[in-house]
Amino acid sequence: MKFFIDTANLDQIKEAQALGVLDGVTTNPSLMAKEGITGKANILKHYEAICDCVDGDVSAEVISTNFDGMIKEGEELAALNPQIVVKLPMIADGVKACKYFSDKGIRTNVTLVFSAGQALLAAKAGATYVSPFLGRLDDISTDGLNLIAEIRQIYDNYDFDTQILAASIRHTMHVINCAKIGSDVMTGPLSSIEGLLKHPLTDSGLAKFLEDAKSFDL
Ligand code: E4P
Repeated sequence: MKFFIDTANLDQIKEAQALGVLDGVTTNPSLMAKEGITGKANILKHYEAICDCVDGDVSAEVISTNFDGMIKEGEELAALNPQIVVKLPMIADGVKACKYFSDKGIRTNVTLVFSAGQALLAAKAGATYVSPFLGRLDDISTDGLNLIAEIRQIYDNYDFDTQILAASIRHTMHVINCAKIGSDVMTGPLSSIEGLLKHPLTDSGLAKFLEDAKSFDL
């Protein structure tokens, strides 16, 4: 299972990268805005800075909603660095753009996916990643994990290469349950990755080992 961090914050990306388990980064316009970055040149520069912090894939989202605009933006983003994956919204022009990029060998992440049908379309259009939004479904009392399981079954039925990128992860149990279902990737905040480390028995066990090791008189 690949671990992506869902942020545009360079310090958090560096912290996750330092842990040695990071496979990539996902961003979206809200996450970029949160970092206070303005102006096209600065935004492009920030994507490059993110690529410099991590070895793996970096999803950069287009903000155009029409085919021509998405192609222009996506090509510009993809040209920044081979690590860039063009993130496209699950709308008709997004599906067309996904097919266009996939035919050209440019990798894509189809985002804002909330149904199995949308995930099927993204796979048919050749998406590299599909991003079902687990947490946002849970937020409205709909079982987000069930959607991941449905997509897993559909993709396995037809051997689609599209990777399921469980997005909108809120906590460690989302990560663990996605791993059980067989999600290819998860993207979540730093806390959802670092939270996996924690267990009180590990802490008390280590404290006891260190206490007992004092008798070694090294
Ligand atoms: C990532 O690709 C998505 O944009 C992100 O996970 C959405 O997360 P949110 O629902 O916490 O905003």
